[in-house]
Parts: sequence; structure tokens; C-alpha cells
Amino acid sequence: MNASLPSQSLPDKRQVAASFSRAAASYDGVAALQRTVGMQLLDKLPESTTQAQRWLDLGCGTGYFSRELSARLPAARGVAVDIAEGMLRHARPLGGAQDFIAGDAEALPLRDNSTELIFSSLALQWCADFPAVLDEARRVLSPGGVMAFSSLCIGTLQELRDSWQTVDGFVHVNRFRAFEDYLTLCANSDLQVVHLSRRAEVLHFADLRQLTHELKALGAHNLNPGRPGGLTGRARLRALAEAYETFRQPKGLPATYQVVYGVLRKDS
Ligand SMILES: C[S@@+](CC[C@H](N)C(=O)[O-])C[C@H]1O[C@@H](n2cnc3c(N)ncnc32)[C@H](O)[C@@H]1O
Repeated sequence: MNASLPSQSLPDKRQVAASFSRAAASYDGVAALQRTVGMQLLDKLPESTTQAQRWLDLGCGTGYFSRELSARLPAARGVAVDIAEGMLRHARPLGGAQDFIAGDAEALPLRDNSTELIFSSLALQWCADFPAVLDEARRVLSPGGVMAFSSLCIGTLQELRDSWQTVDGFVHVNRFRAFEDYLTLCANSDLQVVHLSRRAEVLHFADLRQLTHELKALGAHNLNPGRPGGLTGRARLRALAEAYETFRQPKGLPATYQVVYGVLRKDS
């Protein structure tokens, strides 16, 4: 079983951090899907988490969900962690968490048994070593603590991937882990699986330009190794737009996101 994505199939972490840092100011303006997914994840939090005294928003981005968690758990102390310093600079003055710390989900800068709740929305798809993420979650969770995450799996941005494939065969879309790998990795972790599901969300765009602008504003445009260097030629972009048109629906050009939701619990 391929426990994790080969490291060369995800972008370098410094690039991920730099890309999200650059996107900090534009992110909230285009993050409608991210809001929907995060709210759905909040709805999946088990009742026991209302008693949490400490929570961690992992991959907090602009801190929207740190502020949501703070509003829902006013007596608890929150820590927000992100790998992108630019995101933390943006989030810190907006409050929500008591501490905003730069750190990596695969090597958390937190003590053992230091939180009752880890909330992580749409960040862990950037981690090549998901077993390390789960090990770290288990380490920092206190007994009985809960980790709730959303992530993306294969099938995400499939229309864009297929369209590029017909144009030049290069990797232009970030790679994602298979849903079955999430199932296996969570089942093999030392955490108990309370919930694991997948749900497709489809966004619609007037044209390809709107979609690619949005991905850039989110900081989530293609950072893959293997992406072609240099400028994207006009002819190639025209060919791409033509290929994408074959997917057009009455509402516009579809962009599918395959969202994974997981709720895991550490034994008491
Ligand atoms: C799509 S944003 C989601 C932000 C926020 N959770 C939300 O739902 O609005 C993904 C965030 O994950 C962060 N991230 C990516 N890889 C990470 C890692 N290994 N450790 C911690 N944060 C990471 C990025 O810097 C970015 O801010």
C-alpha cells in the first residue's frame, strides 16, 4: 500500500507557503467553497467537542474558522497554525485564536496532549506524508480528543486536468490522494474513525479565465513539480479553453471538487 504520496508529486513546502502568503489578501474574496466546506465540517463536530478547553485550527489560512471556533467555544483557548507566514500576518490582527504560530502539520510545534480538538479545513491535501499528520494529531491530542478535517481527493479539478491532457499532456493541476487512501490511512492510524465521507461540490464559471484567476487568488494554482516552465503560450491557452468548452453545462463551465470529511478520535 502506498502510504503517502511520493514527495516529488507534491510541490515543495516553501513554494506552498510562499504561494499562500502571496494570496493572503485576495483569499477571502474568492473562498466561497472553502467557507461552505468549513461550515459543513463544523457541523460534523461531535457533541463532546463543546467541552473542549483548547482547540487547534490547523492550516488556519486567513483565520475565518479560528474566529468561528472562538465564537462557538468562547471559554476555550485557541491556537492557529499555518505554514504560510503571510497568512498568519493577515489572520493575527483579526483575532479568534490566542496564538498564531508558524508550523507544519507533519511536525506540529505543539506539546503532547495539548489540545482536545484539532480542526483542519482544506489544508491537509498539501501534505505528502499523511501518516505523519495523523501521528502528529494523535501526539498533540489529549485522550478522548477529536480531529476533524476536510481535504481534497482525486477527481478534484478533473475537468481542468483532462483539458490540459488533450493540449500537452503536462501536469498542470495539483495532484490529490485517492479517497481509498484516506480510508486506509485513517483505518491504519492509531485514531478511531468516527466519520469518513466524500462529497462532490461543483462550482460554475463563466469562462476559463475566471476559474484560473480564482485558483490564483486562492494561492491554489498549480505548483506541481513537472509543471511546464515558462509562459503559457496564447495558442496553448486557446486550445485549453476549447477543450474545457466540451464540459460546458447550462450554468457554465463546471469545476468539480471532491471533498473528503473525516472525524477521528483518540482513545480515552
Ligand atoms: C485552502 S487554505 C484553507 C485555509 C482555512 N483553513 C480555510 O478553510 O479558509 C489552505 C491553508 O493550508 C496551509 N497549509 C498548507 N500546507 C500546510 C502544512 N503542511 N501545515 C500547515 N498549514 C499548511 C496553507 O498555507 C493555507 O493557508
